[in-house]
Amino acid sequence: MTAHFASITLRPFTLEDISAFTAAVNNSLDTLLPWMVWAHENYEEKEAASWINFTHLQRATGEAHEFAIVDEQDRLLGGAGIRFSRFRGDFSAMGYWVRSDVQGKGIASQAVNQLLKFGFERPAIKTIEILAAEANTASRRVAEKCGGRFVDYRYGLIILDSGPVNTAIYHFHRPQK
Ligand SMILES: CC(C)(COP(=O)(O)OP(=O)(O)OC[C@H]1O[C@@H](n2cnc3c(N)ncnc32)[C@H](O)[C@@H]1OP(=O)(O)O)[C@@H](O)C(=O)NCCC(=O)NCCS
Repeated sequence: MTAHFASITLRPFTLEDISAFTAAVNNSLDTLLPWMVWAHENYEEKEAASWINFTHLQRATGEAHEFAIVDEQDRLLGGAGIRFSRFRGDFSAMGYWVRSDVQGKGIASQAVNQLLKFGFERPAIKTIEILAAEANTASRRVAEKCGGRFVDYRYGLIILDSGPVNTAIYHFHRPQK
């Protein structure tokens, strides 16, 4: 039986996460490289620092809330975030990644469920979106497991290193009270 993570916490990144973040990326390239354009071999601490500082800026401007996913001992398991819609007709959107060595234990699904609660605390948000490359079965399964409704495929919403790809769109609607 696969061990399930009893509980994860989403908290803002701090500069103390730099070395754990860098190690997590470099040790997860097998699963990150196909889908995350920011990931690359020999990812460096200065890149982690710059990303973490950027997440603080995004939080301050209200553009997005990016979180470290950590376990009960505050060990970094991955990252997850919600980017708020900026224009009428846009949707707020979630993104996530999990360290390769702890994938398949329900971590991303827990993170998405927590982000959904967090996002729908804002009355203006009626719909939250996940976009996943058509071939990214793990990410699509997370969207489905968390109750996302498959809307359609659209070509080019995600651009990978190889170029634009067919993109699966999932929507989550504000739960009815
Ligand atoms: C997508 C990702 C975040 C999932 O993280 P995770 O913690 O392993 O997710 P969960 O354990 O909550 O759920 C994963 C589900 O996908 C399934 N899955 C994993 N790999 C799969 C594959 N190749 N084909 C089909 N299903 C797959 C798992 O079995 C599980 O479903 P189940 O609970 O029904 O068995 C992780 O694989 C990752 O970081 N990938 C690289 C980054 C990425 O793609 N991010 C998303 C960009 S849209």
